[in-house]
Amino acid sequence: MSLDQQQPLIPLPAPVVDGSVSLEQTLLQRRSLRDFDDEPLTLSQVAQLLWAAQGVTHTRGFRTAPSAGALYPLDTYLIAGKVTDLEPGVYLYVPQSHALIEKASGDIRPQLSRAALGQLPVRDAPATILFTAVYDRITGRYGPRGEQYAHIEAGHTAQNITLQAVALGLGSVVIGAFQDDLVRQVIELESGSTPLYLIPVGR
Ligand SMILES: Cc1cc2nc3c(=O)[nH]c(=O)nc-3n(C[C@H](O)[C@H](O)[C@H](O)COP(=O)(O)O)c2cc1C
Repeated sequence: MSLDQQQPLIPLPAPVVDGSVSLEQTLLQRRSLRDFDDEPLTLSQVAQLLWAAQGVTHTRGFRTAPSAGALYPLDTYLIAGKVTDLEPGVYLYVPQSHALIEKASGDIRPQLSRAALGQLPVRDAPATILFTAVYDRITGRYGPRGEQYAHIEAGHTAQNITLQAVALGLGSVVIGAFQDDLVRQVIELESGSTPLYLIPVGR
């Protein structure tokens, strides 16, 4: 999938930065949830989750999650099945603009679920967030250790999403069991982009 950013940006609702649920409550309540209702997520909820993952929080471009050398090797994709005011499809999150770029249209949740060993949360959740690593962005400075750094960063980012989901009254599960080559095919990822983590989110 081309990462050229020629396609129009789809602006997202601004994130809420003063929610009422405490960090301690989100830590206490976070649990992997795998059964989802057939209810859509709102665009505001999806926007909030994406911002929690990789949103820009500083004028110098720093984000919600730490990144070795601030090189940001991760890309964040939204696989939307049922999101209000957003067509089903695959979208790339653009942190600098807090916006989406559409990469493909259509509901690909069944194919993505098959790529994830048939795991049902991927088929049933209204939306799934996918992190991929573009190792070239970080191995230039850190060598092979850069790959390790990208994996660590994916952990930070995923935890931000799971806690934000709790604060929104939603459930999520992190999924690492999938076939890389099949996920690549389904999402039409470029060869330099490696899928790391799937996070279905829903009610
Ligand atoms: C790296 C990693 C990969 C995981 N992969 C999957 C997965 O493929 N499918 C799944 O249902 N849960 C997956 N999990 C979630 C764990 O099963 C879950 O965190 C564990 O059972 C503890 O439950 P809790 O998250 O509710 O505390 C994964 C967790 C991690 C950290």
